[in-house]
Amino acid sequence: MSTDSRGSWGSRFGFVLAAAGSAVGLGHIWRFPYVTGEHGGAAFVLLYILCVFLIGVPILFAELALGRHSHKNPVGAIKAIAPVGTWKYLGYLGVATGLCILSYYTLIAGWTFGYIFKTLMQNPITFQEFSTNSLLNSTLYVIFLLMTIGVVYGGVQGGIERWSKILMPVLPLILIFIIVYSLTLEGAIEGVRFYLRPDFSLITGETVMIALGQAFFANSLGMGAMITYGSYLKKQENIIVSGVTVVVFGILISFLAGFAVFPAVFAMGQSPAAGPELVFVILPTIFEMMPGGLLIGTLFFILLAIAALTSAISLLEVPVAFLIDEKKVSRRIATWLVGGVTLLFGIPSALSFGASEFFSNLPFWEGQSFFGMMDYIFGSVALPLGGMMFSIFVAWRWKVANASQEIALGNEKFMGFQSKLWGAILSYLCPLVIFVVFLYSTGILNWVSGIVR
Ligand code: TRP
Repeated sequence: MSTDSRGSWGSRFGFVLAAAGSAVGLGHIWRFPYVTGEHGGAAFVLLYILCVFLIGVPILFAELALGRHSHKNPVGAIKAIAPVGTWKYLGYLGVATGLCILSYYTLIAGWTFGYIFKTLMQNPITFQEFSTNSLLNSTLYVIFLLMTIGVVYGGVQGGIERWSKILMPVLPLILIFIIVYSLTLEGAIEGVRFYLRPDFSLITGETVMIALGQAFFANSLGMGAMITYGSYLKKQENIIVSGVTVVVFGILISFLAGFAVFPAVFAMGQSPAAGPELVFVILPTIFEMMPGGLLIGTLFFILLAIAALTSAISLLEVPVAFLIDEKKVSRRIATWLVGGVTLLFGIPSALSFGASEFFSNLPFWEGQSFFGMMDYIFGSVALPLGGMMFSIFVAWRWKVANASQEIALGNEKFMGFQSKLWGAILSYLCPLVIFVVFLYSTGILNWVSGIVR
């Protein structure tokens, strides 16, 4: 199939914004503050940034290069290099992970949509009441899923690119407004300390795993979303510059989001470790108090919903591109099919916040909710493992020299030192670090060392 009938990005800026649109979403504004709050604040932030640059960025280049080289979805991209053998299951893992993440991502995205109206209408409903209302939750869930389906249905340029272009640049501005107000609250300085002064004694194996998972989640890595986005990229694009732009923009947004949340958390005497509801409890309270809060709050949730939409699109696009390329299904049918399956998978997550006792406190997972289980398995474990395998695949199967040549098409300076450094990191550091972190955090390493001793 030619590139054109699959669609491609209209311009360089269009790609950067769309990739930033995929990357920047709830992961930065909802997930980053809540995992940072749960895992010790500043030390976690540093660890996260380290994971992004050391592990995330090299894998991002690998995914983009693989996608552009093959013009395919993850499964097709792998088959283009390794037509026979078991590598293709890595592609399937990516497709499945995308679907599973989308199923609970849509739920949170539905909340942001609901919170637009809650803020606008100054409805006093608490998060508790909101999240246990099954009818409200499922309605918002379905509305959001339909919006995602609608955009993916529209295809690459018409849908994905247009939305991202208009809205991504406004987000940081709104966050700055919120930060300025949050910092004026009494007791806010405690929050600044929590966020900026690291206490390294709080770092454990589990923390490293979560930071690594967040580096993958926030940059849409480890399941082939960037392979799929890279497949719409033209040969003359500079993968290095575009990739780094996206990552740096993402870190900026995350950093601002944390800065908007933590000073207020401490000023209000709340716990930073409140979990997934953190942002949904703290920010509305800020909006109620701050001058112009009605307007800023409404605008904030509108932008957050849109940021979530541009990310959800990329999650849906992976299984859809897979069905189109590999199974020769039409875009229309593929989109509805994947959307339908996602809907089914999302129901238990929607019931995880008190609506169903079983799904809220899974008896076989130490009382963790179904939602929490999904986010842990897919958001924190499956993505780094997928990333580890992608790095091995690109470095050892496709080979660093071939991948470098693809990158160099849009950036001649890449050959030489840059390529060598990238190759070394991708071949050794990425797989090794991820593997060790994985063993350590799951307790396998302790178990083994127990036996050896
Ligand atoms: N990165 C997005 C966010 O931060 C979520 C996301 C979109 C994603 N596509 C992905 C996460 C692919 C992992 C893999 O909100």
